[in-house]
Formats: sequence, structure tokens, C-alpha cells
Amino acid sequence: MAFPEHRMRRLRRTPTLRRLVRETRLSPDDFVLPLFACPGEGVANPVLSMPGVFQHSVDRLVEACREATEAGISAVILFGLPEAKDAEGSYSWSEDGIVQRAVRAIKAALPELVVIVDLCFCEFTDHGHCGVLLDDGRGGKKVDNDATLENLARQAVSLAASGADVIAPSDMMDGRVGAIRNGLDAAGFHDTPILSYAIKFASAFYGPFRDAADSAPAFGDRRAYQMDPANGREALREATLDVEEGADLLMVKPAVPYLDLLAALRRRFDLPLAAYHVSGEFAMLKAAAERGWLDYDRVLMETLVAIKRAGADLILTYGAVDAARLLQQGWTE
Ligand code: PBG
Repeated sequence: MAFPEHRMRRLRRTPTLRRLVRETRLSPDDFVLPLFACPGEGVANPVLSMPGVFQHSVDRLVEACREATEAGISAVILFGLPEAKDAEGSYSWSEDGIVQRAVRAIKAALPELVVIVDLCFCEFTDHGHCGVLLDDGRGGKKVDNDATLENLARQAVSLAASGADVIAPSDMMDGRVGAIRNGLDAAGFHDTPILSYAIKFASAFYGPFRDAADSAPAFGDRRAYQMDPANGREALREATLDVEEGADLLMVKPAVPYLDLLAALRRRFDLPLAAYHVSGEFAMLKAAAERGWLDYDRVLMETLVAIKRAGADLILTYGAVDAARLLQQGWTE
């Protein structure tokens, strides 16, 4: 007997049937909104390569957080543009630093909002690399892994003390999760979780972010510490080490080009997983939509549901508020 054709289509016939058998649903609770804090008052500088994204002074940042919570967003991740930079990035652990001030202001206004802080030095160093530099003995410079670990722990403790709910190291030094955990515990911050950017590739998709955060390296690139996009097995080793060192959540970054690794992590670990739909991924959608070549709402929602389907519990995306509003308006596509 021949198999009947088109049998898969029976459950696709109407919108209601399709909703009934839908496997993955987006919710505003899935999204984390990245925000950039800058000095000044009343400042909202548009980031040209990311339409709709701004560098906000602390007062305006609080307003952006309020709008996000009204759309149903429950978490933000903060990046800072400091008043001054130096070789070590020491302003990143100053009690009066831009991110510390932003965290205090947000937590005072919106205590329920989960405030995640990115932990890194590229925004704070005058050379734009993610740590302290050292002569490499070959006439060049390299990032000193272990000296950077000490500074990461300092930065983590300072941000936890300012009220940050989650610490998210993105520097890619070896041993940083353990060093940060030890630093937090020694300072009494046993309850502060670490969201590790465990699998972070040396990606060209970070371009617009480096405009937004003023964090492009002054020389060279980040390939000596961020991962080679060609390596999948190595990514699983990175994640395993971070789990052993005490990471509470793991992240894959960027998201869409690396959904294979997100799915592999989902099978291997029971920790909550985050995926960062990064600046370049977002900018591509915006740019094509501005030309009328793609429908922004639809490609955004399709992208986010694909990231969730692959295994993400949390999605960091510049489209968080747009997506949350679409869901509020009853988006079911
Ligand atoms: C800091 C950091 C970067 C991003 C997040 N944290 C930039 C980089 O590593 O160069 C990129 C995020 C994005 O592109 O949206 N190290």
C-alpha cells in the first residue's frame, strides 16, 4: 500500500491547529536587553550602526529600564563607557564607576529588575584589549592572563557591592570563572551568580558593539583569547571547564552562526543556557529592513524562536523590547 502523501500538512491547515502543535513559544521572560551607560545627564546618543540603540546617561538609562519593564522585560545587561581609561582599566572597579552608578540607580528605581553586568576591560583600557598587557618576548604585546584574573575579581566584587544581580565575564581569560567565584565568596557575595560567556568566538559580528561601547582594540585583534569560529569540540571543552569552575549559567556568543553549539550544550549540560544575538546579527536585520528587503518584525521573531528552539533559556538581544511588545500585542505567527 502506498503511503498517503501530504500527511505532514494535516496539522498545518489552520492558525489554531498550528498553535496547538507549536513546540516553542517566546515569552518576554526569555529576553535580556543590553544597555550602554555613558557619562553626563539627559544624554541619549544614537548608535548609528544599531538603529534604536543608544548610549544613555544614568538618568536616561533608568527610563529605558522602566520602558523595558513596562514591555514585560525582566532582565538587562549593562555595559559602560567610562569617563577615563588607563592601561589596566582600573576605572572598572572604582566605587564611583559608570556601571556601578548605573546599577545603583536602576536597583533604586526598579528593585525587581534583574541587573546583569558584563565583566571585561576592553571598554576601560586605553588600548582596548580585554586585560592587562605584557611584552610577549617577541617584540609585541599579549594579554597577561593571570594579572587580568586578579582585576576581574576586583571588578566583580565592586559590581556585586553596587547591587548587581548577576556577573557575566566576557573577557575569555583562562580560569576566570574560578577566580571570580573565589573573589566573590571571599568578599561575602556567595549568592551572586556567574553567567559565563563560556563559548565566545572571535567574531566579526561584534563590529557595531565596538562603536557603541568604544571598545575596539587599538592594535591587533582578539584572536589570542577569543575562540576560533572553526572549533566546535574546543567550545565544549571551554564550557566543561567553566562548569567545573562554578559557572551558574553558560552563554554562547554570537547566536545564530553557532546554533549547533547551543544545541550540543543543551544535550550535555543541565545549567540554564543563554545565547547572545549580537550587535552585527541585529544590525543586519535592521539594515535589510530599512531597505525594504526584509520585514523586521517577522525576521526578528523567527530568529529569536530559532535560538530558543536550539536550546537557549535566555536570549540577549537588542530587539528585546520590540519582541516583548509584539508578544504583548498578541503575536502568534
Ligand atoms: C566585551 C564584549 C563584546 C561584546 C560583549 N561583550 C565585544 C568584544 O568582545 O569585542 C559584543 C556584543 C555585541 O556584539 O553585541 N568583551
